[in-house]
Amino acid sequence: MKNLFFACLFLAGTLCAQAQILPKPASQVDGEGSFQITEITGVKTNVKGADKARLFHALEGSLKTQAKAGSQVVLNLNPKFAAAPAAAGAGATVNEGYALDITPKKVTITAASPEGLFYGIQSLAQLKKDGTLPVTQIKDEPRFRYRGLMLDCSRHFFGKDFIKNQIIQMAKYKLNRLHLHLTDAAGWRLQIDKYPELTRETAFRTETDWTKWWGKKDRHYAPEGTEGAYGGYLTKADVREILALAEENYITVLPEIEMPGHSEEVMTVYPELACGWTGVNEGDVQSPMAPNRHSDFCVGNEKSFEFIENVLKEVVELFPSEYIHIGGDEAGKWAWKTCPQCQALAKKLGLKATKDASIEDQLQSYFIQRVEKIVEKLGRKMIGWDEILEGGLAENATVMSWRGEAGGIKTVKSGHHAVMTPGNYLYIDAYQDAPQYQPEAIGGYQPIERVYSYNPIPDSLSVAEAALIDGVQANLWTEYVKTPEHCEAMIWPRLLALAEVGWTPQELRADYEEFRERAVREVLRLKNVGLHPFDLRYEIGNRREYNEPIRHLAYGKKVTYNTPYYPGYKAAGDGSLTDGLRGGWSYGDQRWQGFIDRGRVDVTIDMEQPTEIHEVYATFMQMPGPDIFHPAKIDIEISLDGKNWTELYHLDYPATKEEPYNFKDFGWKARKAGVTTRYIRYRANCNYTGGFQFTDEIVVK
Ligand code: ACM
Ligand code: ZN
Repeated sequence: MKNLFFACLFLAGTLCAQAQILPKPASQVDGEGSFQITEITGVKTNVKGADKARLFHALEGSLKTQAKAGSQVVLNLNPKFAAAPAAAGAGATVNEGYALDITPKKVTITAASPEGLFYGIQSLAQLKKDGTLPVTQIKDEPRFRYRGLMLDCSRHFFGKDFIKNQIIQMAKYKLNRLHLHLTDAAGWRLQIDKYPELTRETAFRTETDWTKWWGKKDRHYAPEGTEGAYGGYLTKADVREILALAEENYITVLPEIEMPGHSEEVMTVYPELACGWTGVNEGDVQSPMAPNRHSDFCVGNEKSFEFIENVLKEVVELFPSEYIHIGGDEAGKWAWKTCPQCQALAKKLGLKATKDASIEDQLQSYFIQRVEKIVEKLGRKMIGWDEILEGGLAENATVMSWRGEAGGIKTVKSGHHAVMTPGNYLYIDAYQDAPQYQPEAIGGYQPIERVYSYNPIPDSLSVAEAALIDGVQANLWTEYVKTPEHCEAMIWPRLLALAEVGWTPQELRADYEEFRERAVREVLRLKNVGLHPFDLRYEIGNRREYNEPIRHLAYGKKVTYNTPYYPGYKAAGDGSLTDGLRGGWSYGDQRWQGFIDRGRVDVTIDMEQPTEIHEVYATFMQMPGPDIFHPAKIDIEISLDGKNWTELYHLDYPATKEEPYNFKDFGWKARKAGVTTRYIRYRANCNYTGGFQFTDEIVVK
């Protein structure tokens, strides 16, 4: 089949004009002619019970299933069916593959599971045009069994109706996991009968705007019912409604209950679960909601585990998901260092700091292993963010690798399962287009092409290790996502790229422009059904300079760093400022070099010989969110011998932290005659603004 498919790619003409499906199927061979859908098109199937009702419901948008005459459409459940000789998908528990065969007389979908038939129906729906289906043969199966979206419902609340709308659309692109981040410092969003205070006291807050509420540290909750308060939560009835719809669409909803960190809201209501610590560590944020307390559960307090077990008991009663997500990320751990109960526990356990794991890392590992026992006692499996690797991974845990791929690689190399959600590809809280034309986001630049470019199997993995990568997930954190419309625009169309990353064989994903055409078509469809996707047709794309390398007199010349660049943002290292490559919209794109030491930028360029120059400038980025500011003082000096310096240029710039996101050139331009120099020293000082400076090139003309 694959050979046929590839042969087809080389043939021109209508015979092989691929009917376009998203995500692209593993193999598709189009024929000539079409199948006409009429009033009497009937459907026959050997599927029974609830699945039959679901599949017929899924077919409804595409053709009538109640027609009496004929049985030209067949849904054939065949347990022996395999879309490809190898079993479907990495680590598959369900064979989700299907075959869709459309001839002028008959449409047949064959699969080993109702899921497979459901996906065959989604392909059929995308093929339908003006009451006809093109003659085609598709054999298809997912590359990965886990194809998901995470939605943060805590930072801003997205309720039942919004979630249901996303589920319906996700299913159309063969996505099968929706991970709901239900608890965090910004509010507990799930009804828990045993602890009604959680939602009653923390599901609402005094301010809608995140920066005002969190950034300015005015963090107060408002009791449920407070007039004008922002927030909300899912009742158990809401959840049941969501789950019923998810089941109809063969989507699993994974609940995340965050612990041991990101739990200020719990500590506010139940301060006895936090470490009994009374000081405030320098550099750590003291929550005014819970004075002198912190964000983490106390590990040394048995009451913590009692609370967690009681909450998880209600969670598993509600959610049928095989996996329960317990968070595990970004625990501050600092209060554990001085908490008598935590330290007594460490002593009792005989914990000793090693070069790989501090005592607090090992306390976190102990905590996570205890929680895993609870999850397993409740008959489920545990999944968590990659911090759960620290201090030793719990026995059966699955890891979501978010701090790049390193956690996922380490996980599968130790024989555990991993889901890849690396921030530098799959965090869709970053800007998707030119930030100045987008609603405020957390920063960064993650256009749909970047999401599409992700390959979840790192080269360094063996076949057996690769098989432990269950799949992929795009994560939408919602600190800056205030409205349902904005939320949909952040999800769509980037989730279309994720759908194809998770489903389509890597070798069929080489042509981004071809994918983009299909994505534009789906954006129009999503708009038609009332969603608010970002309209890909009007994408501006990356910063013009990013795509236009420049040549100038200092190109390739040696740069001496009188103060070092920040190793975390080194771009291409020592050659970055004279390599002709300029940065894009975000500081994280390996083109921008970051400076945080001393006065910030202080470099000397050696022009190799006395050179007549007419212009020297560098572009700086101002991005207040992540503390990136323009320089307050620029000095450019020149020298023929590298010892005796002459001032060429000085500027005091009124840099502020408030200046909005922009790019500015800072430098000197000759009015008439140029000057001759061998060395050029460029300094940019931050003065009182602090923060980072980022520049991409020192241009000399
Ligand atoms: C995360 O982004 N803290 C998982
Ligand atoms: Zn403690």
